[in-house]
Amino acid sequence: MNDPKELIERLNDEHSLSKEEYIFLIQNRTPELSDYLFERSRKLRELYYGKNVFIRGLIEFTSYCKNDCLYCGLRRSNKNAGRYRLNENDILSCCDMGYKLGFRTFVLQGGEDPYFTDDKITKTVYAIKSRYPDCAVTLSIGEKSRESYQAFFDAGADRYLLRHETASPVHYAKLHPADMDYENRIRCLYDLKDIGFQVGCGFMVGSPYQTVENLANDMMFLQKFRPHMVGIGPFIPQHDTPFGNENGGTAELTLFMLGLIRLALPFVLLPSTTALGTIHPTGREQGILAGANVVMPNLSPEEARRKYMIYDNKLNTGAESANGLASLCKKMESIGYRIVTDRGDCKKY
Ligand code: 5AD
Repeated sequence: MNDPKELIERLNDEHSLSKEEYIFLIQNRTPELSDYLFERSRKLRELYYGKNVFIRGLIEFTSYCKNDCLYCGLRRSNKNAGRYRLNENDILSCCDMGYKLGFRTFVLQGGEDPYFTDDKITKTVYAIKSRYPDCAVTLSIGEKSRESYQAFFDAGADRYLLRHETASPVHYAKLHPADMDYENRIRCLYDLKDIGFQVGCGFMVGSPYQTVENLANDMMFLQKFRPHMVGIGPFIPQHDTPFGNENGGTAELTLFMLGLIRLALPFVLLPSTTALGTIHPTGREQGILAGANVVMPNLSPEEARRKYMIYDNKLNTGAESANGLASLCKKMESIGYRIVTDRGDCKKY
C-alpha cells in the first residue's frame, strides 16, 4: 500500500484516513514509526494547547452497578467487590477540597446505580454549580434516557463521558451481556451531543477479542462523531471477572492510538489515563508526550478509592490522589509541561 510515514503526514494535514489506511498504519507500526507519529502529535497538541495539561477532579461516588460488563470489576455479578455510596455532603466535601487545590472541573463518575435517581443527580449537580459557578461539572454515569440527560443538562451539567468501548457491534456483544446493545450506547452519545453537552467517548485498547480492524473502526467512529473528549486506556484484567485470565493491553499500542487520535482530532481533550499509569511506571508522562493533554486525579475519599477497583492494581495513591497533586505537577514539569487550573473547555466542534 502506502508508505506509513506518508499516511501519518496525511493524517496530520487532513485529519482523516480510510479504515484500510488505519489498519495498515496500526499493523505496520514500529518504534521508529511511533516516534515519527509522536513528534507530529505533540506538535499539533502544542499548537492549540501549548504545554498546558488540564486537571479534572474525579469523584467516584458509587461502586454499585446494575450492569454486568464482562471486563469490569464493578459488574453486578462480582460478589467480592466492595460497594459504597457517597452522599451529597460527601460529594460536596470532595469538591471543597478539590476547589482549594485548584480544580475547576469535577467529574462525578459511578456505576449505573438505580439508587441515584435523576432527582438525586440533578440536585447534586445544581448544588455543586451553585457553590462553584466557575467550575465545570462532568457526569459519567452511563446509559440513560434522553429525558434524563436533558434534566442533567438543565440542572447545569456541562459535560458527559460515556465510552463507546468498541465501535464494532460484534466485538461489543463479546464484551457485554445480552441485555446491553451497541445501538443504545451510540444513541446515548448522539442524544448527549444534540442536547448540548461537551461529550467524551472512548475505548479500551487490547480488550479481549479486539482486532486491528476493531481499532480502525474506533478511529472511523471518532472521525464521524467528532467528540470533544476521548478517553482510552489499556484493558487490564480484573481477577473476579470472566476476563480475569485474559491478556491486558499494552502501553505501546495505547500510546500509538493516542498519537493517531490527536492527529485525527487536533482540538480534542485527551486524558492520559489512570489505566496507562497503572501498567507502566511512566505511562502518564508518555501519554502526554504522545499527544494527551488531560490528567484526572482522584478526589474520592481513601476508602472509596480502595473499593473502586474496575481492574487489578488500579493506582490509588500518590499522584492519583489529591495529596499527590504536587508530585504529579513535578512529573509534568520534568517532561516540560505544566498543570493549569482553568476549566479547559473544548471550544471547537
Ligand atoms: N480494564 C481497563 N479499563 C476498564 N474499564 C472498565 N473495566 C476495565 C478494565 N478491566 C473502563 C471502561 C469504562 C471505564 C469507566 O473504565 O472503558 O468505560
